[in-house]
Amino acid sequence: MGRDWYEALARKFGGYRKMWDSEFEGEDGEAAFTAFLRETLRQKGAEDAGLMPRRPGPTVLDVGCGDGLYTLHVSALAAQVTGLDFSPEMITLARRNQQSAAIPNVDFVGATTSGTALPFPDQSFDLIFSRRGPSSHLADARRVLKPGGLVAGIHTGARDEIIGRVEAAGFQVVRNQEYRGTEIFPTREDYALFLSRIPGNPDYTLPEHAAELDRLTAPPPPYRAERWWFIWAGTPSPR
Ligand SMILES: C[S@@+](CC[C@H](N)C(=O)[O-])C[C@H]1O[C@@H](n2cnc3c(N)ncnc32)[C@H](O)[C@@H]1O
Repeated sequence: MGRDWYEALARKFGGYRKMWDSEFEGEDGEAAFTAFLRETLRQKGAEDAGLMPRRPGPTVLDVGCGDGLYTLHVSALAAQVTGLDFSPEMITLARRNQQSAAIPNVDFVGATTSGTALPFPDQSFDLIFSRRGPSSHLADARRVLKPGGLVAGIHTGARDEIIGRVEAAGFQVVRNQEYRGTEIFPTREDYALFLSRIPGNPDYTLPEHAAELDRLTAPPPPYRAERWWFIWAGTPSPR
């Protein structure tokens, strides 16, 4: 989706976080992604321990960081985390969230990844990830990745296109794994919030979309949505 859609979302919902109640049946791809990042960062941190006496740990870039809540979450496992997003509204929210949480080892950068170099020096990061964010950063990812670094992401579509980009950017795919589950929403309000955040959907919480919501929620609760994700990761291919 374009920048305007994310700008509107940031203004309307105060970010991109999950605002509804739900439970999962089956696989939860997002939980698997967090576990994967945690393990990757733990391993990289262990390699660094002793080399960096002040604050050991890897440096991380979160591409398409949105409201920054996930970036802040990851900061506990890293020496330094940078969140990048092309929506000024999202960057404002992210900086506000950082201030409230008083987390020092994070910075947020407003920039696009599309058709331009990433605004960082060569070999800046040990891990570059995109959590449902863009994949156009891959074109310049190898330059800003440190030797031995990893690129990774979780997405819900465009699997072949993203894997193609990973390979075309000079990475060897080391993970390409699918997850399927069902998200179950206890109330109509929870389901409406979920539906409203799907790119391209209207805001079903508004009265003018009540008739459509009635149609979508005609059977009684709970409401169910099939969820699908894939987690990918790549390491620099030998030249
Ligand atoms: C689906 S949201 C995910 C936000 C966050 N990663 C999360 O998981 O909560 C995608 C984010 O990527 C940003 N984005 C999309 N395309 C971008 C681009 N080309 N350059 C920079 N940011 C982009 C949007 O502004 C949005 O905040």
